[in-house]
Amino acid sequence: MRGAGFQSIVVLTGAGISAESGVPTFRGPDGLWEGHRVEDVATPQAFRRDPALVQAFYDARRAALARVAPNPAHDALARLDAEWSGNLLIVTQNVDDLHERAGAARMVHMHGELKSALCLACGERQEAPETLSDGPACTRCAAHGRLRPDIVWFGEMPYHMDRIEAALAACDLFVSIGTSGAVYPAAGFVQGARHYGAHTLEINLDPSEGTHFFDEARHGRAGELVPAWVDELLQR
Ligand code: OAD
Repeated sequence: MRGAGFQSIVVLTGAGISAESGVPTFRGPDGLWEGHRVEDVATPQAFRRDPALVQAFYDARRAALARVAPNPAHDALARLDAEWSGNLLIVTQNVDDLHERAGAARMVHMHGELKSALCLACGERQEAPETLSDGPACTRCAAHGRLRPDIVWFGEMPYHMDRIEAALAACDLFVSIGTSGAVYPAAGFVQGARHYGAHTLEINLDPSEGTHFFDEARHGRAGELVPAWVDELLQR
């Protein structure tokens, strides 16, 4: 991997980048869904059926953010953001706020954010209060009890797709970090980037479902491999 020659980078991150911070991944043995079926907490149907269960699930995850901190992989991507003079877009599937707490700015949350709430009455996205279970009012329309977690559930459209697709079409380096490659459309980004001629690199604990689509793969802990890759790219 040589830093010289690349102009535009897209980095996709998943739950694996936050694992060493203590945020459980989705499909590991300590998976977040443990004790809950995905369809009971992460679909619009689940929210209609049992809003109290879904609100309590996300309230607990929001509260857990206060007990975790960015790890060296988040720090390295924030350093890349600060020092890379070419184009960069960090696309995270994660709903935690560890990239921004590390200092990354050129980033988007494609699956929403725990710290955001969405008003079902007026559609306004707003900073989430500590808990949504108790039916707080919307800051825009004042409707009570209509705020839901601003999380993209199964069957819903991810955020920022136009911007992401434009960045994938223009990038010459695509790097996927800590994602199992099980959930589309993110799992298909590698093929999109390749189609437009980008070099593609996977950094993951073990081979992802789409590992064969990548030009290059490095398997191990993100907290070690991501800082090393960023150093290489910045030619330290
Ligand atoms: P997964 O839990 O499916 O995959 C996490 C990946 O990270 C796995 O391949 C692990 O091997 C890897 N991993 C674990 N620890 C790691 C470490 N220390 N360093 C590097 N890699 C490590 O999580 P995602 O791929 O992010 O969607 O899941 C995608 C989406 O599925 C999530 O955004 C979520 C879920 O449904 C929504 O909530 C909408």
